[in-house]
Amino acid sequence: MRGDYEELAKHRPSQNQIIQLLKQPDFFRLPRGASSRNQSKRLDKILGFKISKVEQKLLKKYKAYYSFDQSCRKQKYQGCETWIGLHPQVLQTPYNEIFDFFEILRVHNPKSIVDIGAGYGRVGLVMASMFPEATFSGYEIVEKRLEEGNRIFERLELEQCQMHYADLSKESFTPPQADVYFIYDFSDPLDIRKILRQLRSVNENRKAFVIAKGEFIQPILKKYPEFKSIVPLAKGKSWDILQLN
Ligand SMILES: C[S@@+](CC[C@H](N)C(=O)[O-])C[C@H]1O[C@@H](n2cnc3c(N)ncnc32)[C@H](O)[C@@H]1O
Repeated sequence: MRGDYEELAKHRPSQNQIIQLLKQPDFFRLPRGASSRNQSKRLDKILGFKISKVEQKLLKKYKAYYSFDQSCRKQKYQGCETWIGLHPQVLQTPYNEIFDFFEILRVHNPKSIVDIGAGYGRVGLVMASMFPEATFSGYEIVEKRLEEGNRIFERLELEQCQMHYADLSKESFTPPQADVYFIYDFSDPLDIRKILRQLRSVNENRKAFVIAKGEFIQPILKKYPEFKSIVPLAKGKSWDILQLN
């Protein structure tokens, strides 16, 4: 299987071939012995993403996340922490990790998935392969990222997947009801708290799951006991899957 990714990446499969490949529900599973980041990098290429090009252009125009240079004329993207300058394979969750999270949630048969700070929409692609009947909404502030995600969704005829522009830190943004939410360190702790409060109120009296990845969100979740971990073995890792109601 690992060889397949290497070969596929070299031979630029046609749009039709990729559409068929995505219909295999274990397309995003990590082959034994393969490297997660390497597999994701190959998959980005196979799927037709131009992520490095977009990220390089962003870095030319906006301040990098690691820059503390006060004299720098470049500004942070809309004043938010959008991780410009971070390696694309660190900025995004590896495809196989998203696959593994969804395997855990398969028994709950999710029908709607929302990514809070969606990057290029990877979560939507894995969902489309594993739960083709479900819908995906990804919310993202960096327009060039969400445009690239929507370009790939259109190219692969994934009408059930959509990226939307949103500044999640604004009080005026409320996440919609969904069966599963995906959050990977999208912003600072105050914004994460605001989103968790909103998730609690939009899902009052209905079951919902939150896949929470990253070091910022783990300590914050401890202050919200109504989000209960469903994966005890996940303790100590930088991710968790929690259930509300
Ligand atoms: C670490 S990336 C995760 C991307 C994707 N969820 C994944 O796991 O592959 C976090 C994303 O959140 C976005 N983001 C940060 N602050 C935001 C805000 N205030 N509103 C919307 N998106 C934001 C960033 O631009 C970035 O693309």
